[in-house]
Amino acid sequence: MSNKDKLIIFDTTMRDGEQSPGASMTKDEKIRIAKKLEKMRVDVMEAGFPASSPGDFEAVKAVAEAVKESSVCGLARARKEDIDRAGEALKNAVAPRIHTFIATSPIHMKMKLMMTPDEVVEQAVWAVKHALKYTDDVEFSPEDAGRSDKDFLCRVIEAVIAVGAKTVNIPDTVGYNLPWQFGNLIKELREGVPNSDKAIFSVHCHNDLGLASANSISAVLNGARQVECTINGLGERAGNASLEEIVMAVRTRQDMFECDTNIDTTQIVPCSRLVSGITGFVVQPNKAIVGANAFAHEAGIHQDGVLKNRETYEIMRAEDVGWIENRMVLGKHSGRNAFKSRLKELGIDFASETELNEAFIRFKDLADKKHEIFDEDLQALVTDTGADSSNEYVSFVSLFSKSETGEQPFAKVTMVFDGEEVSAESTGSGPVDAVYKAIEKVVSSGAELKLYSVSNITSGTDSQGDVSVRLEKGGAIVNGHGSDTDIVTASAKAYINALNKIFVRRQRRHPQKESDV
Ligand code: KIV
Ligand code: ZN
Repeated sequence: MSNKDKLIIFDTTMRDGEQSPGASMTKDEKIRIAKKLEKMRVDVMEAGFPASSPGDFEAVKAVAEAVKESSVCGLARARKEDIDRAGEALKNAVAPRIHTFIATSPIHMKMKLMMTPDEVVEQAVWAVKHALKYTDDVEFSPEDAGRSDKDFLCRVIEAVIAVGAKTVNIPDTVGYNLPWQFGNLIKELREGVPNSDKAIFSVHCHNDLGLASANSISAVLNGARQVECTINGLGERAGNASLEEIVMAVRTRQDMFECDTNIDTTQIVPCSRLVSGITGFVVQPNKAIVGANAFAHEAGIHQDGVLKNRETYEIMRAEDVGWIENRMVLGKHSGRNAFKSRLKELGIDFASETELNEAFIRFKDLADKKHEIFDEDLQALVTDTGADSSNEYVSFVSLFSKSETGEQPFAKVTMVFDGEEVSAESTGSGPVDAVYKAIEKVVSSGAELKLYSVSNITSGTDSQGDVSVRLEKGGAIVNGHGSDTDIVTASAKAYINALNKIFVRRQRRHPQKESDV
């Protein structure tokens, strides 16, 4: 890098991103995302909130053990039990970071914490000191800083830096700020806190008004040197600032910035796809950088211009962010070792030989139908049933479906449910409706289908269809997805994938809801 400052990229896809309703990730899924983020060279990855559930504790621990090149961070409220859990989960990390937070806005202190400002300062200082017993890399966040009193923020920040917080993160928790205002806040805090030069100022912006990236960029122009962001802008409610937008804005407009990131931008699109595949959150086609249309030119005048000189209508090169042609990686004749080592390169390990063998059978099956197998197909193959099959209450066995113009569609589905093979049949308004009604005859989940979408995994009519569904039951939302060259089968797999998540839904506490305390 040049002699510019470094802009630290802190990815929170596996923590704030996971707080999106339905986006929860298993341990194995987090490891796969973590490996990809490491390959992309993110500086810090927040792997989860270890005190939220035993499952998340294990996931953060596993990520901490798998990642060598990036810092791994765990979130903790400013309380002993959270910090101890985070410290324990991160103990084997090469570079562990504890991120502790407490709210500082009048409304949060009074209504949620029921604490006085003095008590909040005292608790924040205590929390940073306690976290320092586990690692010297401690980050502190005054939650809802975007609606906090500036002088009070200066007081808290000075106090936590004085006891050793190395990073001070300013969250616009509810996405309330406007870009010029948020930039000013960062400037005033840096100027108003006497020891501000002893810590890195970071920002964490939510997208409730669609301003998360703009607010983060404005903060960087005013001296912030860490941005917290997520792949595809995933996150609580309307999401967080999206990593790809921040990184590419800074890279593309180097004429405007005194800093740059260390990110390998060619990993952006593959990482976006991985996260979308795992969470089932489809990327909108017109999403900047990673949307399918981000580099597509429809208007003739644009196409003509781009053919004559790319820069007439393109400010970035598609290949620089990882939009490359699908590469055939494996085929019908590829053996078990080639399959295993390609998956390893993708960060996918199997818990046992049995799981590897099962996945290899699915691979051979797919290779029979579709001769060229791409990385995306492999990702889908394991995401589908998951390398983590221990949590399967229902599994798909086979499907017969029939639809003919003028006739009512019919489906017969065979599944293993509660250890027994069972079949059910139904008619429906369409083949997918018939399949879902047949499945429900067996499982009686009572879940409501909130979203159904299908997209192609690679190009060509022989591509696998990737189906995402969202189910809601009793306020809990889960996403499921499945892929197959037959989209009706993919639909059945997606529904069953979501049902399994409903059945095993981990009771997870939310870091920012004090009623969970
Ligand atoms: O949005 C927020 O305030 C957070 C904090 C925990 C940093 O996610
Ligand atoms: Zn947040």
